[in-house]
Amino acid sequence: AGGDVLRADLTGRRVVVSAGGTREPLDPVRYLGNRSSGKQGWALARVAAARGAEVVLVAANVDAPAPFGVRVVPVGTAEELRTAVLAEAPEADVVVMTAAVADFRPASVAATKLKKDSAREPDSVPLVRNPDVLAELVTKRTPGQLVVGFAAETGDDTGDVLAHARAKLARKGCDLLVVNDVSGGGVFGRPDNAAVVLAADGTATEVPRGSKDAVAAAVWEAVLPRLP
Ligand code: CTP
Ligand code: CA
Repeated sequence: AGGDVLRADLTGRRVVVSAGGTREPLDPVRYLGNRSSGKQGWALARVAAARGAEVVLVAANVDAPAPFGVRVVPVGTAEELRTAVLAEAPEADVVVMTAAVADFRPASVAATKLKKDSAREPDSVPLVRNPDVLAELVTKRTPGQLVVGFAAETGDDTGDVLAHARAKLARKGCDLLVVNDVSGGGVFGRPDNAAVVLAADGTATEVPRGSKDAVAAAVWEAVLPRLP
């Protein structure tokens, strides 16, 4: 990340980053989850701390030790992530939501392990909608606070990756949306990444394929000039 130890351009800034993927329990041993490794959010936290920021990393099921100088708040479910992020956000200059938050969770959680030989065959799992943490952050943001979202998109017959991303940025109302094109597959858990940073002011900045630290540095480059 280009000598980030020598720059202190985030000194005095408070940053909250969410990372990983939520797990929504079905019973005491099973959950609905996703493939997010948490590596990109971890890199954002590490790079911000190295550049002088005070960093809280709300980590949903991330299998990695805390980056140096970062306070980690471990969470499991979307509800837990929401509670932790909303508790930390009021003090933050920037909130970055890299976590893959499950859109839905099982409507009920069995208190005991579901057995395959029970009388009733569970042919479907009723789901309910999870809260949209990013949308809530946008409505509750403090004056001057920046809210950054992440989106993994694929093109389809209704639009290409950027068209979907621009629509999402407008829908969410955040300041920046970092877009990963996952059409080719195989980004999850990979050490490298590529992205486009879309801003609410209409600008689009392409981040060339590189390490997740390099993408993290590019995100902070986009954040810095927008901080009050
Ligand atoms: N996000 C969130 N809470 C949710 C779902 C998503 O805070 N319940 C955040 C993610 O952390 C990410 C951004 O919203 O920063 C975009 O997530 P994404 O899943 O792409 O957006 P959705 O609105 O859920 O759209 P989609 O239908 O494409 O899943
Ligand atoms: Ca989603």
